Amino acid sequence: MREFWIKDPSYASEGRKKLDWAEGQMKVLMKIRERFQKDKPLKNQRISACLHITKETGVLVKTLLEGGAQVNLCPSNPLSTQDEVAAALVKEGVKVYGFRGLTSKEYYECIGYALLHGPTITMDDGADLVSTLHKLAYDIRGVDVDYVKGVLGGAGEDIIKGVVGGTEETTTGVVRLRALEKKGMLRYPIIAVNDAKSKNLFDNPVGTGQSALDGIMRATNVLFAGKDVVVVGFGQVGSGIAERARGLGARVTVVEVDPIKALKAVMYGFNVSTLSRAAEYGDIFITATGNINVIRGEHFEKMKDGAILANAGHMDVEISKRELEMLAKEKVEVSKLMTLFRMTDGRRIYLLGDGRLVNLVCAEGHPSEVMDLSFSLQALCVEFIVKNKEKLERRVMEVPEEIDKEVARLKLDTMNITIDELTEEQKRYLTEWQVGT
Ligand SMILES: NC(=O)c1ccc[n+]([C@@H]2O[C@H](COP(=O)([O-])OP(=O)(O)OC[C@H]3O[C@@H](n4cnc5c(N)ncnc54)[C@H](O)[C@@H]3O)[C@@H](O)[C@H]2O)c1
Repeated sequence: MREFWIKDPSYASEGRKKLDWAEGQMKVLMKIRERFQKDKPLKNQRISACLHITKETGVLVKTLLEGGAQVNLCPSNPLSTQDEVAAALVKEGVKVYGFRGLTSKEYYECIGYALLHGPTITMDDGADLVSTLHKLAYDIRGVDVDYVKGVLGGAGEDIIKGVVGGTEETTTGVVRLRALEKKGMLRYPIIAVNDAKSKNLFDNPVGTGQSALDGIMRATNVLFAGKDVVVVGFGQVGSGIAERARGLGARVTVVEVDPIKALKAVMYGFNVSTLSRAAEYGDIFITATGNINVIRGEHFEKMKDGAILANAGHMDVEISKRELEMLAKEKVEVSKLMTLFRMTDGRRIYLLGDGRLVNLVCAEGHPSEVMDLSFSLQALCVEFIVKNKEKLERRVMEVPEEIDKEVARLKLDTMNITIDELTEEQKRYLTEWQVGT
């Protein structure tokens, strides 16, 4: 078995510096780490983690290690790995399988390696690891499964039997897991970390809002002020992107399919239109729907010369790369972060980060302070699974409310912010029904 599979172990000292920075920003997670160091709540646990290999993930993984777990880590996207961080983690005891620029085959092989130690817990971002493990266990065929089998052999059933629980980081992963549960095929309980308030209200809108624009700016250095920015999907992520693009002086159009979200966008002062109309005037298009082929041929055909396309959704399926390639007469790599598609009529359309998560491929992902919330939840949810493994039902579960609130409370503490408490009278009042005007 490979001990690790990374770009270059000599990057480790560079990676350690990045981890040092992130540790300084992730104060809640570092507090949890201190407790984990003493109590070792994850002793004897083997965690297979499929997460973007960033400095923030590094801080989480080191915390799990300090808690007594053994961690095998693979990336949840072929292009998002920070190779220096991967090298530092290997040096510090994590088995890391992944580097930036994996082929599809290598991506699934990395998942295979991450599973090789027979996990007791899985930690996923987008559900590729869990989905592959289930396909293996149910003997469902596919090229992804073949690649994983190449590493694991046919051991799917044996591996899945040993898993007591898992966590899922993002909306797309939760959607996939709920589909698996609905079919009656989910084999172990999984906590939807994404759906916790202290994740969803901050990571998705605030983290992606800032980092997606950061990615677009790093890739293009484009001026947002005065531009027509079209945000497709006004959910947790899209609403954050729309707000921040407006903050930079852009005119923002929102495209939605859900009447409530569309109405919300209208009431928040955004222009709301169809993609078909917005395609004609948009300068920058950003998808955040978690859906497939949202921007496609009929839209590319209407776009202006110089239109920029970026995706912030989990998978690289939101912008139809296939149709873009079909319609273009020429494809030029302008830089590692930007590809030019020249249409047959001479118009230029620019795709950023190969249509993959623009904030992770073209920038560094969310700021560490935001990931402090999401990854503190992850650490506490893993501890919760270990403590309650006998009692958990085989379903997609909510994050326990105490954990959700505790993470928000700890975050406020680290920011030196004190909030009010209910008086005894107020507590009583809120539980009574007799008192009126
Ligand atoms: N880039 C990141 O770092 C990051 C962070 C968090 C989540 N995500 C991903 O971003 C995506 C969106 O997550 P979310 O939490 O905002 O989900 P969400 O469910 O809150 O929002 C998605 C929105 O897209 C809309 N939508 C779906 N299909 C559409 C279509 N064809 N046209 C227009 N609108 C459409 C839905 O109505 C919904 O309002 C997911 O794939 C999620 O995993 C990425």
